[in-house]
Amino acid sequence: MTVTASPQAPDAPAALEPIRSVLVVGAGTMGSGIAQVVAEAGIAALLVDSHAPSLARGMGGIDAAWERAVAKGRRSEEEAANARSRIRAVASLADAAGVDLVIEAIVENVEAKEALFREAAAAVGPGAILASNTSSISITRLAAAVPQPERVVGLHFFNPVPVLPLVEVVRGLGTSDETIARTIAFARRLGKTPVEVNDFPGFVANRVLLPMINEAIFALGEGVADAASIDAVMRLGMSHPMGPLALADLIGLDVCLDILATLQRDIGDDKYRAAPLLRRLVAAGKLGRKSGEGFYRYD
Ligand code: CAA
Repeated sequence: MTVTASPQAPDAPAALEPIRSVLVVGAGTMGSGIAQVVAEAGIAALLVDSHAPSLARGMGGIDAAWERAVAKGRRSEEEAANARSRIRAVASLADAAGVDLVIEAIVENVEAKEALFREAAAAVGPGAILASNTSSISITRLAAAVPQPERVVGLHFFNPVPVLPLVEVVRGLGTSDETIARTIAFARRLGKTPVEVNDFPGFVANRVLLPMINEAIFALGEGVADAASIDAVMRLGMSHPMGPLALADLIGLDVCLDILATLQRDIGDDKYRAAPLLRRLVAAGKLGRKSGEGFYRYD
């Protein structure tokens, strides 16, 4: 009897099911940026937001980005039209039953995210991955809200999403290896560089970044130097693309305050307490670029 070698070793890993369609929940800066890069990568993208004007603004922003890219010669008319044809605004999660991946980019509030994950888990198939773009909330906690925690993962993009190459892929306590592998393959397909991290408050990026921003705000509040000087020191002395105060305005001062509160509460160390000046600006509605004023004014 002749025995021929099997074409595939018995313990070879099964081929990963690729992500063919994505639902992005939340059409703010992050959500619309994520939907944009998904469509640009040739993957069907659905965008939903419970607030209809935000959805319209998000879709409008994506269109404007593609028009700018064509005007600057970075993309052809045809490429932009193809990308546009792959993205669709939908009214509710019920319109996204067949998607392979849900990425939530809603408000940084644990209860709101838990409720959304419960709704998403019921709306999409059992094989779909549920990802959160949270900047600091525990993935393990969000996973506990759904029946299959192994399919929940963190997928943390950086602002501006179309420009910055990093995504943190966050492994919760129950996240399966398959979910991590499919998520990493998806991030690579977007042209991003995934870095896997474990589920600790703030992950790596915000655990390191926010104390620096907070310290710059303390320095400003104590009169060490004015905002432009603090930012100039970090841009010109450390080669940061923008200073920490300008960056805080880009991120949103309310978001910075939320992340610091999560770090302080969940790590239990007061070294993460927010600078009083940050609290005052947020209380005054000065949230950075999105409100027209933070450490700087924006027209
Ligand atoms: N959307 C899309 N593209 C954008 C953009 C946006 N919002 N802002 C800038 N760009 C593009 C521009 O079109 C330009 O592309 P081309 O060269 O092809 O024309 C390119 O980026 C460079 O832009 P500019 O010349 O206008 O400005 P710049 O060189 O000063 O870069 C910047 C602007 C990309 C924002 C840069 O200053 C930078 O990288 N800053 C640091 C941003 C950062 O650290 N982000 C992370 C924040 S933390 C976070 O997001 C996570 C969290 O959880 C808080």
